[in-house]
Amino acid sequence: MNNVAVIGSQWGDEGKGKIVDWLSSEADVVVRFQGGHNAGHTLVIDGVTYKLRLLPSGIVRKNKISVIGNGVVIDPWAFLDEINEIRSKGVKVGEDNLIISESANLILPFHKEMDEIREDAAGKAKIGTTRRGIGPAYEDKVGRRSIRVMDLISEKNLDQRLETVLLHHNAIRKGLGKSIFKKDKLKDDLLKIAPEILKFSKPVWNKIYEFKKQNKKILFEGAQGILLDVDHGTYPFVTSSNTVASAAATGSGCGPNSINYVLGITKAYTTRVGEGPFPTELKDEIGEKLGTRGKEFGTVTSRKRRCGWFDGVLVRQTIKISGIDGIALTKLDVLDELDEIKMCIAYKIDGKEIDYLPAAVEDQLKVKPIYQSFKGWKTKTRGIKKFDDLPTNAKNYIKELEKFIETKVSSISTSPERNDTILIVDPFKT
Ligand code: IMP
Repeated sequence: MNNVAVIGSQWGDEGKGKIVDWLSSEADVVVRFQGGHNAGHTLVIDGVTYKLRLLPSGIVRKNKISVIGNGVVIDPWAFLDEINEIRSKGVKVGEDNLIISESANLILPFHKEMDEIREDAAGKAKIGTTRRGIGPAYEDKVGRRSIRVMDLISEKNLDQRLETVLLHHNAIRKGLGKSIFKKDKLKDDLLKIAPEILKFSKPVWNKIYEFKKQNKKILFEGAQGILLDVDHGTYPFVTSSNTVASAAATGSGCGPNSINYVLGITKAYTTRVGEGPFPTELKDEIGEKLGTRGKEFGTVTSRKRRCGWFDGVLVRQTIKISGIDGIALTKLDVLDELDEIKMCIAYKIDGKEIDYLPAAVEDQLKVKPIYQSFKGWKTKTRGIKKFDDLPTNAKNYIKELEKFIETKVSSISTSPERNDTILIVDPFKT
């Protein structure tokens, strides 16, 4: 029996929602393992639209267990709001279908404030974060002063933990000329909602072990994309978690051998929200066209996404870093009207040609893409469900792309509709 990890192979927003939704209909258990409510996707099931940020996609389906692992950072109020929002649409959420890890770290109001204070103070050096407090919460986790779900059990313990974390935050706030964050109101607010949070909390590592023993199919649902990974992405313009597939193991408490297939969701062009290097970015009318046709606006922050050509060098690199077995190519139909389509196959830097993205951000900003050009197909591919029905030029583009990234395309998405998918390999059945 296969367990599948789904991750983004670019800078996020690759169209994971549709693929994860399709795979979650097959899975028994869906696990989020990193990130927080900086992620966001929209699912449309039987005509009802669900906007998910923190909850795993399995939550909107009957008879699925949704799990939030220890690697996720949870804003407890955002978590409860999201539950209420989807309950109002008739979805049942209870302890039998939602589990959160006792060890997951909380995002608290002072994290969100710190995210905003720092972004506002950074001027041109800002990261362009989602301002949800993600970075500051992960910093407190590795700084060993974080408040975790289990800390909500005892008032005495919570008091001590808050004392520790606020000592740190208030020192920085003072330095930045900001007001002191008071402990008591936050403690009272947390204690008020504690029972609602704690009722979902369990030792997730043990639950996953049981699910595996019961031969349940597990889907590990990644958020963001590998180029936003804190180790492997375009640092410092990254998120603060590991977004690679191996994070599914550490972020939920199972071994790497629990993941049998890694599916990399890959857009047929490239987008990025926020600041940072983007070698194939198009600041011209083609970029505008991709943005309009692809409806490239952020789900969480509504920001306009930057658009550019498919970067084969980057995707080949993220495939190697994350052990991607196959890619799901999304939004092919967005390219339908173009006369010419380009794919980046190498970079030039200081007169030299290189075949990978250098690690230093200064170099990442300097590289110039070298393109291979393809004739556009100028025909509607929207809604096509068989590879053979694709126009010849589209087939050529996909075959060349496959060859270049040295990885098979396992499915192709030809519209936002769930059924408009060319399925080549079912990751659960390989
Ligand atoms: P943070 O995760 O809010 O700290 O933001 C850090 C960077 O990651 C920024 O460039 C964000 O735009 C980007 N980012 C965070 N979450 C997502 C996502 O779900 N999709 C795309 N970009 C994201």
